[in-house]
Amino acid sequence: MTAKEGRLMQQAYHQVATYKDKVVSDPYRLDYHLMPPVGLLNDPNGLIQYKGVYHVFYQWNPFETAHGAKFWGHYSSMDLIHWREEPIALAPSEWYEKNGCYSGSAVEADGKLYLFYTGNVKNDDGTRETYQCLAVSSDGIHFEKKGPVLKLPEGYSAHFRDPKVWKHADRWYMIVGAQTLDETGVAALFTSKDLYNWKEVGRVAGSGLNSLDEFGYMWECPDLLQLDGKDVLLVSPQGLEPAGHAYHNLFQSGYFIGELNYKKGTFQHGDFVELDRGFDFYAPQTFVDDKGRRILYGWMGMTDDAEQFQPTIENHWVHALTIPRELKLHDGKIFQKPLVELEALRENQVMVEKAKVDGPVVKFEGISGASVELLLDSIQVKEGTFAMAFRNEAVLRFDADKQEISLKRRNVKTSEPEARTCPLAALSKLQVFMDHSSLEVFINDGEEVFTLRFFPNPEDKSISFLGKAKFDLYKWDIGRIMMLGEL
Ligand code: FRU
Repeated sequence: MTAKEGRLMQQAYHQVATYKDKVVSDPYRLDYHLMPPVGLLNDPNGLIQYKGVYHVFYQWNPFETAHGAKFWGHYSSMDLIHWREEPIALAPSEWYEKNGCYSGSAVEADGKLYLFYTGNVKNDDGTRETYQCLAVSSDGIHFEKKGPVLKLPEGYSAHFRDPKVWKHADRWYMIVGAQTLDETGVAALFTSKDLYNWKEVGRVAGSGLNSLDEFGYMWECPDLLQLDGKDVLLVSPQGLEPAGHAYHNLFQSGYFIGELNYKKGTFQHGDFVELDRGFDFYAPQTFVDDKGRRILYGWMGMTDDAEQFQPTIENHWVHALTIPRELKLHDGKIFQKPLVELEALRENQVMVEKAKVDGPVVKFEGISGASVELLLDSIQVKEGTFAMAFRNEAVLRFDADKQEISLKRRNVKTSEPEARTCPLAALSKLQVFMDHSSLEVFINDGEEVFTLRFFPNPEDKSISFLGKAKFDLYKWDIGRIMMLGEL
């Protein structure tokens, strides 16, 4: 470790200690989501199960609740329930990363953990440089920086970042989010035999490629993964215009399903599908664990102009990661299910069998709370609408006639109501994870998911039902994820 890196880390730990009491006293702090100990968190990075231990790294600015020169913060876990706050993995100390150790991924090779990330450089004259860098560890905790392993290839602007690396048939592959010189977003594929020397294979997808028209000016955080026999490109394009119910957030995250030709770097794929229908979901990343599950974490946030109005900022922290979700392919569509491990956090079950809602607002005995899981099973909504209001601040509404489902909240900047909507033919099951200031709604076993942050009156723990429906209702309080160590 260089002296500068050591100094930056000490400054970050000092920041954690200085604001710890303020941060943990925030009524909007979450119980079972990973958050920054102070400052701003964004993308999940370097997800891996290495030597049996789950590692979640994240983009972190410890010094401000705004974006800046990012560190890689680090949590580890044996079971995805008990977490340890690990020492900082990467601090932006070197010339090639002086404005941030930006997003990237992890692989295991020869028993070692390899982190690939983007070294972000912003020059005084406004120009940028980007370097895809490597850091290696033999214990999963302490990393030795090896510096840049891939410089900016010809044909791309300096918006070239977020390397995701994986192995296929004895070769390593890296997919990078990129912008071409004429400012279109693409995902570029590279290959290597030794993880140090990388060669471009081609552009697998992007604006104007394959069957796609214009599709954004920059693609961030690509992830090329194999799911149930298909290749899936997960990507976060910037610059899509709203179209019908789609693309209403500032930036999007979604996927293309297809088949990758590893030799030619070509990818025949279908349409882009948004992964999440809510307000706060971006830059997801996946990994495969020892049980063979494809697990996704996303950033439960967005860099829009309301970001700086989140009330947690007054307590020196902002944003969180989503809960982990397992991905499965069903009839050409990705379904996302909360990871089964979360069931271990369930406490105090309340059950209302054959619950019936018919007309005005209904509340059920024992169905309330701020940190809860709700399950509505065997739902019957034949006509009209069925709605649920969470703490008088967010409303989920299914319209059986229009075959649509929507989620409404108040905008943190303007206080005006805003909604996100998606088509839904029928509603049979709802699984809702609420955590003080977040909601993740899984519809029909993960056919659609809505994720959002919301900031209700902390005293208001009401959950009410409206419209016309029948269902079996379950509620659990959710315990806190355990933090074993602290910075
Ligand atoms: C996505 C992103 C990435 C970048 C990182 C910087 O949210 O903009 O493209 O690497 O955040 O924190």
